[in-house]
Amino acid sequence: MSSNNHIRRRDVLRGAGGALVAALLPLPVEALQSNGNRRGKGGSERFPLRLPAMTDAGLPQLVCAPAMIDMGDGVQRGALAYNGMLPGPTWVAWRGENVTTTLVNNLAEPTITHWHGLHVDYLNDGGPRLSVSPGQTYPYSFPIIQRSSLNFYHPHPHHLTGKQVALGLSGAFIVRDEDELGVRLPMGGPLEVPLVIRDASFDSRGDMDYKATGSGFMGAFPLVNGTLNPYHEVGKHLYRLRILNGSNARVYNLRMGNNQSFWIIGNDGGLFEAPVLLTSVVIGPGERLDVLLDFSPYAFGTSVSLVDANSGWNLVEFRVRKLPAPDDPVQFGELPSIERLSNPVTTRVFSFDGMSKINNQRYDMNRIDFQVPFGQVERWVFVTNGNGPHPVHVHGASFQVQSRSGGRNQVFPWEQGWKDTVLVQDQETVEVFIKFNAYRGLYVLHCHQLEHEDMGMMSNFEVV
Ligand code: C2O
Ligand code: CU
Ligand code: CU
Repeated sequence: MSSNNHIRRRDVLRGAGGALVAALLPLPVEALQSNGNRRGKGGSERFPLRLPAMTDAGLPQLVCAPAMIDMGDGVQRGALAYNGMLPGPTWVAWRGENVTTTLVNNLAEPTITHWHGLHVDYLNDGGPRLSVSPGQTYPYSFPIIQRSSLNFYHPHPHHLTGKQVALGLSGAFIVRDEDELGVRLPMGGPLEVPLVIRDASFDSRGDMDYKATGSGFMGAFPLVNGTLNPYHEVGKHLYRLRILNGSNARVYNLRMGNNQSFWIIGNDGGLFEAPVLLTSVVIGPGERLDVLLDFSPYAFGTSVSLVDANSGWNLVEFRVRKLPAPDDPVQFGELPSIERLSNPVTTRVFSFDGMSKINNQRYDMNRIDFQVPFGQVERWVFVTNGNGPHPVHVHGASFQVQSRSGGRNQVFPWEQGWKDTVLVQDQETVEVFIKFNAYRGLYVLHCHQLEHEDMGMMSNFEVV
């Protein structure tokens, strides 16, 4: 690796911090955030950011059920939740560990849980064919065989995914490995903050509400880790934000309210070979980002917000406080190198047509649309003529984005490395290389705009 593949605290501070001190600007006026017709306190009051409880590889039960949830403002709101939490517990499992749990369906309709981003076999993948009826259970047991990364678990029953996710069923799944340990990034302590970002709407009683539309469910306000209008107290340290877009259909253009730059060090499939310094990043449904944000240049008492430039929402307000220095200050080592996929032997083209079809076919649970030989590099081309954004997602393997032509016409720096979800906007053609070398079996390819998926923009394929 060349020296610019190293990331050191000093470089991070010179890059982000140096530019930042000069760039400190007054915070923009916060966008007025509607909280729907919620009961309880209104206005722009902010509430402490929730940090979902962590669970390790063995969790006896993962129960899907209706629950009453306090989203920070003290009001109990009807939702669907994993183990009574919204988002569900954050899994933390190490490479080589075996994950076990039993899904318990206490909903009034079928469900199944999919581990988005995890490389697992067919029976553990939680695809739509594996849905279980109300009152039934489903056992999971699988080894973690992939690199450290932030993943996403959520329901995947056919026709019901959008509803169940919008009403609250989703959570983060962190994979750890020795490489990450070697880099000495913040892990598990207060400096590593998972941020599950989504939009939501409430009905007239203040409960979670879902109305599907073909162009995608657009909630009226943001929830971060299930918190309305969150703030988070930070020390003058470098923080690691593990960001997951858990929205059904909303694309965010993330930036800091004062235009501070931040480092992106990884995405869906884990760490990059080298960090990238940016002031904004676009994240579609199902995508993840690993971000380093430096608060050390700010004076105590300063507030700086993570905002979405698309909606104008203030997602999280960070309040810089005198917090004790962490025991194990961050000291960066080298980021791990990434194997490059090359020389694809087959090309497949997938056209995301209208709002419900791939290659002019609607999803049929019993139809297998194509077969992929195990272990061979393939070139998959995703095209569309409209109705985007289509966040295209593949189960069973990660891929590497090669090109985007038409539309935005480039591969963005945050799309390097290993991905499992890539944003295809109208008129765009996105080319990826992919290799299925974990398991043979049945997987799906689909649009992660969940209303498109539920209407049939999904395809079964078999790795043989
Ligand atoms: Cu995140 Cu097939 O899903
Ligand atoms: Cu998935
Ligand atoms: Cu779509």
